[in-house]
Amino acid sequence: MRLKGRLLSVAEMVPPSRCVVDVGTDHGKLPVWLVKRGIAESAIVTDISAASLKKAEALIRAHGLEDMIEARVGDGLSVIHPGEADTVIIAGVGGVLIRDILKSAPQVTSTVKTFVLQPMKSQGLLRKWLVDNGYAIVDESLTREKDKFYEVMVAQQGKQHIPHDVYYDIGYMLIKKQHPLLKEFIEYKMAKTAAIIEQLESRGTPDSKKELEEFKRKLEDYKGVYLWLTRCNRW
Ligand SMILES: C[S@@+](CC[C@H](N)C(=O)[O-])C[C@H]1O[C@@H](n2cnc3c(N)ncnc32)[C@H](O)[C@@H]1O
Repeated sequence: MRLKGRLLSVAEMVPPSRCVVDVGTDHGKLPVWLVKRGIAESAIVTDISAASLKKAEALIRAHGLEDMIEARVGDGLSVIHPGEADTVIIAGVGGVLIRDILKSAPQVTSTVKTFVLQPMKSQGLLRKWLVDNGYAIVDESLTREKDKFYEVMVAQQGKQHIPHDVYYDIGYMLIKKQHPLLKEFIEYKMAKTAAIIEQLESRGTPDSKKELEEFKRKLEDYKGVYLWLTRCNRW
């Protein structure tokens, strides 16, 4: 089985593991790929939807991996026991849901070594929550499929100092490792933010004023990082 794009970029961030939990697995491609390549010795796949989990179960059977991958219906990490897994993947869902899943299962998360997280939105919110709640973002990756960028974060228990709020939106590790898509990614974020500013300006309501100020500040911060990287010849 071959993975590409977003799923491959998530899979490539998973370290060699004894047992990987893939929360919200749906099709189950990630754990099958990881176990087939020996990156994970075993896996547990979970999904809140029994119908989604059936797809994963069919794929697991098709690859003859029933002894190595177990499927459990349930909400987030509620169906995982402390110490069962050393790696947790939560991909393809929003950052708020990822935060809520981690937040509601401290007895499980405290026994996990590595979290591979791929939020579809609210990436900044998730980074800030991780750093404020005893996690360090130790690696990040980025991939693009058509017009969309996907951000992958690897977090572990630990402390991290984030020198400026802008690094919640533009992952610091992406800058540190000089990710090849970084320039395009910041350009994309600047264009998107400028479009939001234009919309809010045309609305002109008192409610939109506060939001407008926030987005203007963000745009200035993105430009600052972009200019700094340009001056440092980082691309
Ligand atoms: C868009 S799919 C993502 C599938 C896969 N993880 C990926 O990255 O391609 C989201 C899946 O998460 C499941 N899901 C949503 N909320 C969940 C929760 N609280 N706990 C477990 N699974 C959840 C949905 O049923 C759905 O199958």
